[in-house]
Amino acid sequence: MINLSKRLKCIADMVDDDSIIADIGCDHALLDIYLLQNKKIKKSIACDITKGALDQARRNVKLNNVNNIDLRIADGLDNIKKDDNINLIVMSGLGDSKIINILEKDRSKLEDVDTIIIQSNVGVDKIRKYLTNIGYFIFDEELIKERNIIYTVIKFKKGYKKYNKNELKYGPVLLNKKNELFRELLINLIKRNERIISKIPKSKIIKKIKLRIKNKKIKRLLK
Ligand SMILES: C[S@@+](CC[C@H](N)C(=O)[O-])C[C@H]1O[C@@H](n2cnc3c(N)ncnc32)[C@H](O)[C@@H]1O
Repeated sequence: MINLSKRLKCIADMVDDDSIIADIGCDHALLDIYLLQNKKIKKSIACDITKGALDQARRNVKLNNVNNIDLRIADGLDNIKKDDNINLIVMSGLGDSKIINILEKDRSKLEDVDTIIIQSNVGVDKIRKYLTNIGYFIFDEELIKERNIIYTVIKFKKGYKKYNKNELKYGPVLLNKKNELFRELLINLIKRNERIISKIPKSKIIKKIKLRIKNKKIKRLLK
């Protein structure tokens, strides 16, 4: 049986039962194999742009003897077709601009996609903004700490909801939960800003003030 990292396990737990998923940037297809082994999904279309990654995925699929996985070499959603009937997309371990570009390029392919699960290494606020603008709302969010990095995993569902600036920046569900990891994330942010402030020359006083105000706002969220 496949053993997933904490980060991938968090994503797997967010996948709805009986889904047909497209895992874009599947790499070695560990997530897909795990989901199929645990009979959580009906089928996976696992895509990656790199041949080497898919070769390894193919070996892993054979080794673990799973069916109902379709490995496709593709840039983003290029090789996803309407009759694949996917209802859920996973994109994890990619950057915000890549994720947004992939979705924006093939917006029509999202027609029947009711759920999108994203774990981006950077720019989660931009992803929240983009997806909530194109007709998805934030259904769930989790933070996972692995090798001293805090990852954000977001599950979007089809539908509209209005969010304020703070919710888009820090996550409505995370703000609501305000758990220990969320506090750690904000404290790290404050410390990073303080380090930047200390290096800003006196001549750039406005920049310093702006960052100090930002830190005050973040501190308020910790209360
Ligand atoms: C850091 S790995 C993440 C793998 C896995 N999704 C995870 O979360 O562990 C990123 C993967 O995305 C693939 N990738 C990058 N750009 C892509 C694109 N435009 N379309 C499909 N796959 C892409 C890379 O080849 C790589 O295998």
